Amino acid sequence: MQQVSKIKRLREQLADVRRSEKTIALVPTMGNLHDGHLSLVKQVQERADFVVVTIFVNPTQFVEGEDFDSYPRTVDADLKQLDLLNVDLVFTPDSNEIYPEANNVTTEVTVPELDAIYCGQFRPGHFKGVATVVTKLFNIVQPDIAIFGKKDYQQLLVIHNLVKNLCLPIEIIGSETMREEDGLAMSSRNQYLSESEREQAPLLYKILNEIALNIEKGAKNYEKLEKEAIFSLKQAGFRPEYLKICDSETLKSPIERELVIIAAAWLGKARLIDNVAVQTYD
Ligand code: PAF
Repeated sequence: MQQVSKIKRLREQLADVRRSEKTIALVPTMGNLHDGHLSLVKQVQERADFVVVTIFVNPTQFVEGEDFDSYPRTVDADLKQLDLLNVDLVFTPDSNEIYPEANNVTTEVTVPELDAIYCGQFRPGHFKGVATVVTKLFNIVQPDIAIFGKKDYQQLLVIHNLVKNLCLPIEIIGSETMREEDGLAMSSRNQYLSESEREQAPLLYKILNEIALNIEKGAKNYEKLEKEAIFSLKQAGFRPEYLKICDSETLKSPIERELVIIAAAWLGKARLIDNVAVQTYD
């Protein structure tokens, strides 16, 4: 496995790969890899000849006061795991490499229709940071395919939109959320939970599933379902930011058959997000 931290070096390596007509897959991560990330790697290994994993804790997607400084950084352990999986190349740039314009980011990418709703409302600027860094990584690596987890559902839609709107020739794969045995979606931020909060945490997924079941059985009063769910979460000690039943492609009011129930809620120091897809049949 090669590890490079400079764009120039990465491009030299990838030029050789392209000359041999191999397809390239990109797995962008912020490191602190868990089984969810490793499953993304395994999936693209089935679909591309050469797999590039990037590890970069992107400062521009953290909002003032968030956990940028304390975000878990475990590069050595990450590299060991990726090596065991036979990843071809790991890109570990520093901030100056990705943001040559230094602290004063001058060129940004936004997907306005998704930028300020749900997670974007509570984390202003977050999706601009994600869209900007992912566009940079796409330009640096120029992959044929790239994979992202569905746990960050709004992020996945942002990326689908930016690829479509900027006419980028990259196939985006959305991967099913990997879960712990009790249903909690895997996330690097789960380690912020205390022992008792960790026991309580799967309730979020359980509640989203209950709503999905009710909708499948014909429930139509979405507002009531949302309110009851938020009430149950609060009763259990969560601090919900939003819980919404929406159209799975636009995140607008549910007008199509394909819906998604999305939610973000704090539990102690951890901000948990999750979602469940649901179909209506009428
Ligand atoms: O999902 C993540 O880990 C990050 O948002 C991403 C896509 C690697 C961009 O920094």
